[in-house]
Amino acid sequence: MRYCPFFYSEILKKKRSTGEVSGYSLTLENAIKMKGLGGYFDVATKKVKSYDMKKYLLGVTGGIAAYKAVELCRRLIESGHQVRVVMTRSATEFVAPLTFQAVSGFPVHRELFDEAAEAAMGHIELAKWADQIIVAPATASFCARLAQGLADDLLTTICLATAAPIAIAPAMNQQMWAAQATQSNLDILMSRNIQIIGPGKGAQACGDIGLGRLLEPAQIIDHLKTPCTTLLQGQSWLITAGPTREQIDPVRFLSNNSSGKMGFAIAKMAARFGAKVTLVSGPVNLETPERVSRVNACSAEEMHQAVKNSVVDSDVFVSCAAVADYRPATTAEHKIKKNSEQLDLSLIKNIDILQYVGALAKKPFCVGFAAETQNLEENAKGKLQRKNLDMICANNVGDKQIGFDSDQNQLTLFYRDGTTYSIPMADKTDIAIQLVERIHQAFTNT
Ligand SMILES: Cc1cc2nc3c(=O)[nH]c(=O)nc-3n(C[C@H](O)[C@H](O)[C@H](O)COP(=O)(O)O)c2cc1C
Repeated sequence: MRYCPFFYSEILKKKRSTGEVSGYSLTLENAIKMKGLGGYFDVATKKVKSYDMKKYLLGVTGGIAAYKAVELCRRLIESGHQVRVVMTRSATEFVAPLTFQAVSGFPVHRELFDEAAEAAMGHIELAKWADQIIVAPATASFCARLAQGLADDLLTTICLATAAPIAIAPAMNQQMWAAQATQSNLDILMSRNIQIIGPGKGAQACGDIGLGRLLEPAQIIDHLKTPCTTLLQGQSWLITAGPTREQIDPVRFLSNNSSGKMGFAIAKMAARFGAKVTLVSGPVNLETPERVSRVNACSAEEMHQAVKNSVVDSDVFVSCAAVADYRPATTAEHKIKKNSEQLDLSLIKNIDILQYVGALAKKPFCVGFAAETQNLEENAKGKLQRKNLDMICANNVGDKQIGFDSDQNQLTLFYRDGTTYSIPMADKTDIAIQLVERIHQAFTNT
């Protein structure tokens, strides 16, 4: 299957101007090339490949946000990667090259005409040395020069001379970002499969508010790690995450240990792979992933209502939330006082949201989670049948390493046709990448 970058770039062109898209999408072919920090999604084998260390050429251009590139450089090095820094002349007006030299441990490259470079061709040496070029911040001027194919300084010359993938993280005043010239330049860069990371929205150094902020170094690294693809383009995914709260009285509730991390990771990856994602979230302390539309729900009843509202338009439903099975029969209007030795709490069954979706006449592709502490396989398979699911992901929440609040997980997938698939222990983000891919495969085969 081919994924056409040009078609997708048309959609992105529109969305970028509204701020709906920050971070740009690559073709799948390029996602393969875009081996990121620590790991990457290999479309050929449909697997996340193991962590590998890379040689990063960090280009810094002349914007206010240049100081953030120091932190980016530090984080890359801390992760074990090699980094060489190239600064434009303007960039040195904002941050002293000595800072990057101290952080990277190597002299900063600035001049195209460098007599110190071996054979006086530093640009070619650096272009060949790099596994990945990341320019952060990328000024409007740099974007224009890159789009024009100019080679009028060291950084642009390297970008022309390299076979390595190029990513840029633009940062500029919101008006400069919105300017037609800038947007046209970005279209050109996108059509050449240059990864565009950000920018973000918010208050700017000049006092304006809008699109144009450099993403934070951690976000830039995250984008390098998992570039966007168009794998799920045209699909709508509805995902639930987190716990629910069932009020006993105005100050007390019944809940569980679900952190929401797994569901949020799935939402983030589904969106990054091009799906339209609605995330119905219980009360959790997590940031909404980019390009994900979030609906907050507190109780099981609220979550059911939110799912009902969105499920009609969904192609895939992933039920990752730990919805309370029972709720108090009544919720006290006022705080219950400590007057008696014993307090009986009467509970009634909540609606099973997953079962409700599985029973819909026009149901989406349904994926459930079976969080168990015993008889994992038996319970998971039982749920799969009983709730009319297409796939169930079983995990042992009794294991502290991979339990509810952990950053890691390990899943066994049970399919409707009886096949199983194991995703070994990994970070929830990496698990989510594999899971999204497996769901997509099964969904497109139905
Ligand atoms: C104080 C100051 C801040 C600037 N900040 C930015 C910026 O954030 N983004 C940008 O695109 N240009 C910014 N500029 C303009 C660039 O520095 C200018 O276009 C320069 O030629 C860019 O050179 P370079 O792309 O070679 O680094 C700023 C200029 C000044 C004087």
